[in-house]
Amino acid sequence: MDKQVQTILQRSRRRRLVLFPLTLQGHINPMIQLANILHHKGFNISIIHTKYNFPNLSIYPHFTLYLIPDGLSESEASTTDIILLLKLLNEKCVKPFFDCLARLLSDDADDPIPCIITDAVWYFTQAVADNLNIPRIVLRASSVGSLLAFAALPLLQDKGYLSWKDSEMDAPVVEFPPLKVKDIPTIETRNAEGPYRVIANMVEQTKKASGLIFNTFKELEEPEFDKLQEQFLVPTFAIGPFHKYFSASASSLWTQDRTSISWLDTQAPKSVIYVSFGSIAEMHEEKLHEVAWGLANSAQPFLWVVRPGLVNGSECLEILSKELLEAINRRGYIVKWAPQQEVLSHPATGGFWTHSGWNSTLESICEGVPMICSPFFGDQMVNSRYVNDIWKVGIMLEKGLERVEIESAIQKLMVGKEGEDMRKNITYLKEKLDLCLKPGGSSYESLDNLVDFISSFRSPV
Ligand code: UDX
Repeated sequence: MDKQVQTILQRSRRRRLVLFPLTLQGHINPMIQLANILHHKGFNISIIHTKYNFPNLSIYPHFTLYLIPDGLSESEASTTDIILLLKLLNEKCVKPFFDCLARLLSDDADDPIPCIITDAVWYFTQAVADNLNIPRIVLRASSVGSLLAFAALPLLQDKGYLSWKDSEMDAPVVEFPPLKVKDIPTIETRNAEGPYRVIANMVEQTKKASGLIFNTFKELEEPEFDKLQEQFLVPTFAIGPFHKYFSASASSLWTQDRTSISWLDTQAPKSVIYVSFGSIAEMHEEKLHEVAWGLANSAQPFLWVVRPGLVNGSECLEILSKELLEAINRRGYIVKWAPQQEVLSHPATGGFWTHSGWNSTLESICEGVPMICSPFFGDQMVNSRYVNDIWKVGIMLEKGLERVEIESAIQKLMVGKEGEDMRKNITYLKEKLDLCLKPGGSSYESLDNLVDFISSFRSPV
């Protein structure tokens, strides 16, 4: 066949992308949103997913799904020790993922596969991609600032920060402003090697990828992007916020309780503080009491997501006293899981008390809702500090979960002058964000660049 005709035919064929989401709610959502964005841009989509935490994707008949065994025992399939879970998944999924991808690549004559897209935390997939001679693009499902902080851990360890005493936690990390020592993104684990090997693997294998996608927008983290480009010599695409293109609700692992919306309908504009700590965070029983008393004493209406497992091994609310439950029920409404994006965009919602998971942070910025931040681990510590110190769109609870500070922060945010200023700041960020998604905007342009970049790869022969 004439070479030119062959090229035209190749171009006109729809190409297939293979996506591999990390199997946790905060990572599944952005990957499924990305899949929809790229499908909309003309790619066929195949998704490889572990059996663990497999979401119901039946509303996406245009995706082809491949389930792979993850080999986790019942006791291993738990987010209580997230580092251990990630380490095990990265070990046990190597062969099933390799076999599945090799089969797809050997059968891609009709719609060639130019590259795979996998979550940064699936660090083992870089070696598989190299082995099968296919480019790997990484999706990093958090902020650029937090990736830089993870990458800085060896330096911070050398400088001795990781062994500082409790009394020194509020000292600044001079090598990494605006972080304080307590914001260094560590994660508690029973893993014999501690958390750092898993984090280092994630960073090292991301540096080896062919491209890097972020669910953020350039204007939010401009200085961080400059630093990233010095350290990660990888073409980078900031095309977020993804959920402005496609909502996350369809990939929810839990049923979203819609009575939360009818309850919000009965509340005054901007009067409600929405409280949710995401899909993984766990707290001790006494901390749940502090949260509950802080909310009850705040004199503000609140919508509180109490996910089963928030207190390990408990359905949670049964451990609260009758007196406390009565105090909560006077002003609050509790659900196990909420349609979060709808809650944040509801006119009655005036504040969001969050664990500062990246999706929650972005969703709040998109709706112009200022935050109270209670980070639990990892990237959440960095995101919180940025919300408090850099973007000035929220209040970080510096003492942790303690009822007096909680009550005072809710008052400041919902009815104080500080809250008013934060609302102005976040409205300004929201306006920037709205522009970045329009033609000529940074995320809009970056998405076009990503599509060109993917299209420049030839499928393996
Ligand atoms: C995890 C990590 O913990 C987090 O630090 C990282 O940034 C992303 O991956 P998670 O803790 O679940 O995520 O938090 P987050 O990133 O905020 O994602 C939670 C998602 O669940 C959001 O998209 C949110 O809209 C959704 N959600 C949350 C609901 O739909 N209903 C709820 O009731 C609570």
